[in-house]
Amino acid sequence: MSLLQQSPLGTRSAFYQLHSESTSDSKQELVSGLRRAQAEINPKFLYDALGSCLFDAITQVPEYYPTRCEREIFDMHGEEIAKSVGRVQTMIDLGAADCVKAQRLFDRLQPEQYVPVDISVDYLKTSVMRVAALYPELDIVGVGIDFFQTLALPKQVRPDERLFFYPGSSIGNLNVAQAHDMLKRIHDACGPGGKLLLGVDRVKSAAILEPAYDDALGVTAAFNLNVLRHANRLMGSNFDIQDWAHRAVFNTTESRIEMHLEALHRLKVKLPDGERVFEQGETIHTESSYKYQPEHFARMLREAGFKQISHWTDSKEWFSVFAAVA
Ligand code: AVJ
Repeated sequence: MSLLQQSPLGTRSAFYQLHSESTSDSKQELVSGLRRAQAEINPKFLYDALGSCLFDAITQVPEYYPTRCEREIFDMHGEEIAKSVGRVQTMIDLGAADCVKAQRLFDRLQPEQYVPVDISVDYLKTSVMRVAALYPELDIVGVGIDFFQTLALPKQVRPDERLFFYPGSSIGNLNVAQAHDMLKRIHDACGPGGKLLLGVDRVKSAAILEPAYDDALGVTAAFNLNVLRHANRLMGSNFDIQDWAHRAVFNTTESRIEMHLEALHRLKVKLPDGERVFEQGETIHTESSYKYQPEHFARMLREAGFKQISHWTDSKEWFSVFAAVA
């Protein structure tokens, strides 16, 4: 892994860009996904700068409950959660985005070092500057990385008493086997005295789940459609937003919400290796968001090697927060 950029932002903060979106890898990944019988785009491509802003807006629409439920859990049980997490030297925030969730826990957890990690590099840089200004004493190491690919962190990240913070049910983007693997990799990266604090969304009825991923204002639709513009920039394709509609369905057998983009009529898209025809009604699968029963998720944590597993939920029992020791 090469160090592409290291930019000092202040005396106590640094930024490492270990991921760059304009690589031929991204292009190749997009093309091969779109060439499948069921076309797909990896959900990480949802998060360009605008996509990250749109996701932030999603968390504010009334139908999207996960962010509020998780926040309720941290507000109601913060003291107990902090007690079970114990001493934290380094807080590693996977998918940090605006860093606000971690920031709310700083007072309780008192980390000496904060390591926000995100694939959306420019968005993260802005966040790091904001946090650095607010907490001049905190040692901040921002890392622009695709952490689904690798958890190799710069050597400046301290090895002891690490807390991996993985909120928001981001792990739900992975299928069950990949989530298993991710938990194992986090477990391996924990080091001495390491622990994990994670949020995961729970199984519930399609009547609650589907509106959460298809809000009346159309923010989620914009978030989903924006992936086509991002794809156009990355590989020079010519997707036209007008030709596509946002769809969100709960797949009960797989226990996941699926986001798709559906072709409104037969159309041709120019890809780097030639044309791709989409029939009317054909879809591009852009995201899966897996929902778990808490017992199932606790078992996955144990199988990944975690111990002393604690669990909290909100008053509606819609969302779960787990703390565990490596
Ligand atoms: C950021 C992956 C947790 O799956 O709920 C929200 C993304 N997609 N609305 C989720 C998302 C559409 C979100 N995660």
